[in-house]
Formats: sequence, structure tokens, C-alpha cells
Amino acid sequence: KRLRPSSPEAEPPKVRVAASIATTRPRVAPAVALPKPQVIATAAPAKPKVTAPAPPQPAGAKKRAAWDLKGQVNDMRDKVTTYKGRVQSLSGENARLASTKEQLAKQVETLSINNADLSQQLSDVCTPCTPDEVSVAPQVLSTPLPHKLICLEGENSTLKTLVSDQSAQISSLEHTVEERDTQVHALETERRRLHNTVQELKGNIRVFCRVRPALQSEKALPAGNIIFSPNDEKAIVLTKVEESHIGRERSQSVKYDFNFDCVFPPTTGQAPVFEEISLLVQSALDGYPVCIFAYGQTGSGKTYTMEGPDNISEETMGMIPRAIQQIFSSAEELKIKGWQYKFTASFLEIYNETIKDLLVNRPDKKHEYEIRKVNTTSNEVYVTNLRYVEVSSVEEVHDLLHAAKTHRSVAKTALNDRSSRSHSVFQLKIEGENKLRDVHTSSVLSLIDLAGSERLDRSLSTGDRLKETQSINTSLSTLGMVITSLCNKESHIPYRNSKLTYLLQNSLGGNSKVLMFVNISPLEENFAESLNSLRFASKVNECVIGTARANRK
Ligand SMILES: Nc1ncnc2c1ncn2[C@@H]1O[C@H](COP(=O)(O)OP(=O)(O)OP(=O)(O)O)[C@@H](O)[C@H]1O
Ligand SMILES: [Mg+2]
Repeated sequence: KRLRPSSPEAEPPKVRVAASIATTRPRVAPAVALPKPQVIATAAPAKPKVTAPAPPQPAGAKKRAAWDLKGQVNDMRDKVTTYKGRVQSLSGENARLASTKEQLAKQVETLSINNADLSQQLSDVCTPCTPDEVSVAPQVLSTPLPHKLICLEGENSTLKTLVSDQSAQISSLEHTVEERDTQVHALETERRRLHNTVQELKGNIRVFCRVRPALQSEKALPAGNIIFSPNDEKAIVLTKVEESHIGRERSQSVKYDFNFDCVFPPTTGQAPVFEEISLLVQSALDGYPVCIFAYGQTGSGKTYTMEGPDNISEETMGMIPRAIQQIFSSAEELKIKGWQYKFTASFLEIYNETIKDLLVNRPDKKHEYEIRKVNTTSNEVYVTNLRYVEVSSVEEVHDLLHAAKTHRSVAKTALNDRSSRSHSVFQLKIEGENKLRDVHTSSVLSLIDLAGSERLDRSLSTGDRLKETQSINTSLSTLGMVITSLCNKESHIPYRNSKLTYLLQNSLGGNSKVLMFVNISPLEENFAESLNSLRFASKVNECVIGTARANRK
């Protein structure tokens, strides 16, 4: 019998572990399920199919006859050969299976180790956490908590030391600030004293002369002979060629020399002019009454100097808006030194010896504006029914100035299209209080644009205009008389002779600082008026009025 051929050899089993296994403890809350290691077998370890060898049975073989011993031996030989082959193939298969078994044993070992590792991880993760631990940021979890606590305690104690150090520093600084405060106050008092000494040395009445430029419409007119000395900013010389009165004698040039505290030629802008008066304005904040006038014939530039032109700009604005700006900015600076200021503004005009409130559009006809004393014991005066407006910013004052400009009496004369025929008086009452030092100051800053000083014949005035001119001249000559009387230290000062001087009595006396601008025209045709103005101003300039005292309590 022939043996059947053996079945095909089985493949050795392949096993793959697909799970990735964390080697460190996962940083997630235990609620999160760990991935289970998955064992995926791509081929199950197949049992090798061993088919039992059937004895080879040649097809169609017949039982040999008992006598055919040779044939029987041959058959037996064939069988032995077949069985030998079969044994050989089975031993090969056996060897392969032994190797497969060995591989599987190794895998089992690896898996057991993995399994033990995962079990350990699982038990670690399953250790109950405190609620605080659960909410702590993941990066915190990476550091052991007790160590963190120690670190935080260390930090805390460092911070505590720092706080106590800084508290000590703060209290020492507070002490220094207090000392500095006292020093600042002492210095501020000294500054005020020195400032006043400088002002006194300059004189309590000062006169500045300003010559305006020729207007576009005047360029063709002959210029007056006005000479400015390049080396002496206080001198001005007017010259005129005069006919000799003695028959046919040749004409001669006459010189008129004047000296003032300052002379501004036509090229001087508003800013340099204000620079010269800014210290005086500062005095008002320090508690001194300050009075600034603009005097001169009509059209000489008084309104331009005090207020500025109609189309006003930063560059062209006059003394009043500049003084207001300075007062408010200085008051702001003094705040840190403990000063608080209250400002009250009023703006009136005196026209034909009648007071008109410039801050009221249509004044009630029944209202009478009378100058009265505040009380019997004080010289302080006020005007009945006048609007006194408390102001706290530059803008508020500018609004008032604008309103006043439109309300001011403007009439046309032959000399100046927009001739202002009245005196306009802007007053700012300044009340200061230093709560830290319990010091109070009170003063009035008066800025006055006088009406034109021209003589009657020049303005061709008739009727109402004539009355105006007479009234203007009366009050201006009274102003001159008051200043001269103060200068001569006369017992009677004629303040009451005009509304203007009566109103300003506290701003003209020995306690105050007075500055007069004398404005003159550059034209030859205005020579006589210019000379007149300069003579009047010269008289004022010669005066020395007392010694100013700050109103401080
Ligand atoms: N410094 C100056 N620079 C340029 N223009 C000036 C200057 N001064 C005056 N003016 C111009 O001269 C003209 C007359 O000046 P302003 O009106 O100020 O004269 P006034 O003295 O006020 O006259 P009145 O007494 O009639 O009111 C105006 O057109 C003004 O703009
Ligand atoms: Mg004017």
C-alpha cells in the first residue's frame, strides 16, 4: 500500500500587540478610562493538521501468492521506504511546532509583564484625590503638593518682609514730603517777597509806550518822525520840522525826547509786550491790586493792545486774554502748594459818566448802576446791580469777553471807524486761600481800555459826539489829577470827580501796582496828539506811589 502525501505545512502563528502602553502615570483625573491593551491576533495559532498516514496500497494490487516470496519482499521494501519518508516529514513538522511553542511562550511572558505594569498604573490612578487636587492646574500636579506648600510659605514670608520694609519706607517718605512741603511754602513766601521787591524797584507806577504800525490804508501817508534808539529800549524821540517865526529864517528841526519803562516800536508783537507785564499780572495772584490801562488818542491801538483785533488768534490776542490765561495756569500750578482760588469777573463800560453792564445784553432800564462801598469800615467798592460772574476756566472768561465786545458802544467818528467812545473796565476779583497754612489773599486785577484821548477839534465832533468827547476828556484829566495827587502825597485825592477814578480808587492808591500803556500812531498827521499823549504819560511816569502791600491775612 502507498502512503498518501502529507497536508500542506501550517504557517507559524503571528501575534501583534497594538496597544500603546503608558510608561508614566497619566496626568488626568481618574474618571478618565485608561485605554485597554488590545491584543489583535492576525492569525490564530492554528493547530497543525496531522493526517494519519494510510499504508500505501498500490492501485489494483492483488494479494501475492504465498509462493511469491520475492514479490512479497519487494512490497515490504516499498512500504518501509514510504514509512521512512513519512517519519522524516513528521519530525520536520514536529521541530517547527516546537519553535512556534517557544515563540508563543515568549509572547505570553511579555504580555504578563505588561499586564502587571498596567495593573500597577490602574491602582495608582485609582487612589482617591482631594477636591482641591482635582481642580489644581495640570502643571501643578506635576510637582508634589507638600513641596509646593513649602515653596508658597517661603514666598509668603518673603512678601511679608517686603511689605514691612516698604511700609517703613513710605512712612519715612511721608515725613520727607512734610518737611519739603514746609520748605516749599517758605520758598514760595520768599519768592513772593522778592517778586514784590523787584516790582517795587521798578516802581509801582510804570509806563510803557507802544507805537502801532501804519495800516494798509495809511501806507501812502507821510510817516511821523519817530526815532527809536537801538541801544536804549526806554527812549523815544519825536522830531518835527518847524517853521521859524522870525521872518525868512530857515526852518528848524525840533526834537522831543521821552523816556519810559519800556518803548515798543511798531514791529513788536503782542507776545513780547505781554512778557513785560506778566510779572505784574502774577502779583495779582499774590494778593496785590493791579491796574493796567491803555491810554492814547482814538485809533492809536488801545483796543488792539488790550483785547486784540477782531479776527483774534493765538498770536494776536491782547493783554486781557493773555493775562487770564496766565492767572489760571499759575493758579493751577499753585494748587499743589495748597492754594485754592476763587475768581469773580465783571465787565462794565463808562459812557458819558454812566455805567453800563457789558455782561448783560439788554440791561433793565430801571436798574441803576451805582458805585457803593461794601461796608462803612472798608474802602472796597462794588457796583449795584452789576453782574459779578464766578468763573473757573479760561474758556468761561473768553466767552464773557466775547459777549462784552458785542455789547460795547461803538460809534463812527472821522478818526476811527470803530472808535470806542467809552472806557471799558474788566475786573477779576481773585480770592486765594491756603488751607494748609491758613493764609488768605484778596485782590482785584483791573484791565482798562480807555476811550480816545483826542482833543475836540481833531474828531470834528458835534452834538452827541461833542458831549462824549467832553466827558471822555473830563474823566481822563481826572485820572491824571488823581495820579498827580497821589504822587504829591496830597491829603485829598479827587477820586470822586469821575466815575472811573471813583471805581478804581483801591486800584490806584499806595497799595496797588499800576501800569499805563501809552499808545501812539505812527503818522505825521497825528503828531500833535502823539506829543500830547507822551507828555501826559511822562507826568504819570514821574510819579512814585507808596509801597505796595499784599492783601494777606
Ligand atoms: N500793534 C498793532 N499791530 C497791528 N495793527 C494794529 C496795532 N495796533 C492797532 N492796530 C490797528 O489799528 C486800528 C486802530 O486800533 P484800535 O481800534 O485798537 O485803536 P483804539 O486806540 O482802540 O481807538 P479808539 O480809541 O477809537 O477805540 C485797528 O484797525 C487795529 O487793528
Ligand atoms: Mg478802542
